[in-house]
Amino acid sequence: MGKERSAAASGEKHNKMLVGVVCNFAAELKLLLTALLILCSLATLLQFIPSRFTISASDLRFCISRIAAAGPTTPPTLPSPPSLFHNYTQKETDEVLPSGIIRRAFNPYGAAAYNFITMGSYRGGLNTFAIVGLASKPLHLYSRPTYQCQWLPFSSNKENDTNITSSLSYKILPDWGYGRVYTVVVVNCTFPQPINLDNSGGTLLLHSSTSGGGDSKFNLTDTIPALTEPTGTFNLSLFTSKPKYDYLYCGSSLYGTLSPLRVREWIAYHVRLFGERSHFVFHDAGGVHEEVLEVLKPWMELGYVTLQDIREQERFDGYYHNQFMVVNDCLHRYKFMAKWIFFFDVDEYIYVPPKSTIRSVLDSLSDYSQFTIEQMPMSSKLCHSVDAAKRHRWLFINFGECGGNSRKVNK
Ligand SMILES: *[C@@H]1O[C@H](CO)[C@@H](O)[C@H](O)[C@H]1NC(C)=O
Ligand SMILES: *[C@@H]1O[C@H](CO)[C@@H](O)[C@H](O)[C@H]1NC(C)=O
Ligand SMILES: *[C@@H]1O[C@H](CO)[C@@H](O)[C@H](O)[C@H]1NC(C)=O
Ligand SMILES: *[C@@H]1O[C@H](CO)[C@@H](O)[C@H](O)[C@H]1NC(C)=O
Ligand SMILES: *[C@@H]1O[C@H](CO)[C@@H](O)[C@H](O)[C@H]1NC(C)=O
Ligand SMILES: *[C@@H]1O[C@H](CO)[C@@H](O)[C@H](O)[C@H]1NC(C)=O
Repeated sequence: MGKERSAAASGEKHNKMLVGVVCNFAAELKLLLTALLILCSLATLLQFIPSRFTISASDLRFCISRIAAAGPTTPPTLPSPPSLFHNYTQKETDEVLPSGIIRRAFNPYGAAAYNFITMGSYRGGLNTFAIVGLASKPLHLYSRPTYQCQWLPFSSNKENDTNITSSLSYKILPDWGYGRVYTVVVVNCTFPQPINLDNSGGTLLLHSSTSGGGDSKFNLTDTIPALTEPTGTFNLSLFTSKPKYDYLYCGSSLYGTLSPLRVREWIAYHVRLFGERSHFVFHDAGGVHEEVLEVLKPWMELGYVTLQDIREQERFDGYYHNQFMVVNDCLHRYKFMAKWIFFFDVDEYIYVPPKSTIRSVLDSLSDYSQFTIEQMPMSSKLCHSVDAAKRHRWLFINFGECGGNSRKVNK
């Protein structure tokens, strides 16, 4: 998926990533292709995907559900949408001026897109931060919004680092071309010197300017408190200590009627594959209904799963439940906690050929900071016939995105 490649692209030389790509095109396959990503029963995808490998049915056994019946799947409980009615009383009327001129009134209704919506702000080192969010897409299409960061320390130790403005603030638009009312923005704020080393605390401000129309009166600036580090909370060991996990999974937005049975199969399979030093972060955009939660709960209690409720972002009309924002947030949020971060979906299964293990594959790639995984569609015939009727329920990925350009935003 273009989105996931982009998530990685926004990232880090320091961090190593394995990137699952659904819409993988031959040209993109230059990196070592040692692992296979199996798409279970996506017969519809066959036409898109070059198949280089043949694997026997027995290799694909794991796809076949061994779980007997799980109760009927209930529809997800979606958050109640914001009211679609906004009622107004007219504010201004036309006016006849003493000069006889008729002054016409203009009354705005509704709301345009917000200038910036923050999801998360994270440190990327001593002097660098990433701010992940959404911004008005028309603004980015027709104007050149600019971003600047400023660090305001709590302490009045004015001598040194009071009121530092970042030298480098650049934005990455990982879903460029895909966004709708909103597009995803990752602002990188890098300062000329370390920030908050004395641990006295402070606030990172983001100045988000619309830079509209070449006419300065439309250049509005919103100043946003992006991140506060309370006094004494900055811990350098975050960057230097051994990561807590070997493998961390960042899932994209889950929505639609997910099958609890499939989710149970997916998580059991991947916990077994990735082992004890692994962790899975799911993002619930309405897909984690009660029965799916039942399935995830034991894994949460065992410390394997973190569930993030991101239903609130449904208010902001972006691309596929704002999945680009979500995976970028996950990347910056967890990058110091894992050696490798994986991006793929819950209808995809990582497959490592016999005689290799996930560890041996990744050890062979230790000189790389990221790589993609070749994908294979899996025949629907291999799946349990009992589930056939339900198949559509867990195929929540829209294949429309496969046809588009997959962009690389590598720097
Ligand atoms: C606005 O008007 C609609 C339709 O008359 C009504 O149902 C709704 O409750 C009103 N909303 C508010 C906030 O007054
Ligand atoms: C911001 O960009 C710089 C230069 O590319 C990079 O070294 C730094 O890690 C980035 N910061 C974050 C938080 O991603
Ligand atoms: C200011 O910075 C200089 C050099 O970085 C350092 O020697 C000095 O102690 C700092 N002063 C204060 C008050 O932190
Ligand atoms: C921070 O510095 C800028 C210019 O460098 C100045 O315009 C601004 O007023 C300062 N803000 C505070 C809160 O000191
Ligand atoms: C808009 O304002 C910001 C902040 O003052 C400034 O950095 C930017 O250059 C301005 N843009 C234009 C087009 O004047
Ligand atoms: C920083 O974090 C490490 C482990 O994450 C911990 O052992 C240490 O005590 C922390 N230091 C401070 C000053 O909180």
